[in-house]
Amino acid sequence: MIKIDSLEKFLNVINDVNSDVLYNRIDIIDVLYNNIDLIKSKEILQVVKENHTTDKSIYQRIELNNNFCSVYAMVWFPGVGSAIHEHKNFKGVVKVIHGELTERNFNEKEGQLTFVNKVILNVGEKVIEKKYSIHDFINNSNTESAITLHVYYPRTLNLEGTRIFNFEDKKIGILKSSAKATSWNLAAEHFERIYSY
Ligand SMILES: [Fe+2]
Repeated sequence: MIKIDSLEKFLNVINDVNSDVLYNRIDIIDVLYNNIDLIKSKEILQVVKENHTTDKSIYQRIELNNNFCSVYAMVWFPGVGSAIHEHKNFKGVVKVIHGELTERNFNEKEGQLTFVNKVILNVGEKVIEKKYSIHDFINNSNTESAITLHVYYPRTLNLEGTRIFNFEDKKIGILKSSAKATSWNLAAEHFERIYSY
């Protein structure tokens, strides 16, 4: 696990409210949303600098903590986005640390996916990822990387069973636990199966 001072402060807050969350006395989303700013952007930028990856066709997910919530820094290389994906059994908050991204939201009804809206996200802006939501992110720049900070609750051990969608070709891919990103650029070995819908 990567040690980040300001992240420790944030985790202490989450730890303090953990029993209230477990007994449904408070909604964790409010706590995550209101406290994610405790994590300092410059420390995240430093971590990203120190964790290079060579494959720039898939966004990079850097795990910062995975105790009772999952904290990731994600690097969106120029023009790179996620696949459309679902949030099966976890929810969270995303904050833009660097650059500008677009989030597109979708609805699934009777096996069909429909586009709902898109949101432009700038530095410092936060968005909630609801349980069962279906969406994607794309870096709006073709020249510069964008960086986001993600906090999920409960912790997400891996992406096993997560569905990703290809809206144009009407295909669904089901990821294996080895998948490190929701992306169609993953090697075939990271898919449980791919089928048409
Ligand atoms: Fe997501």
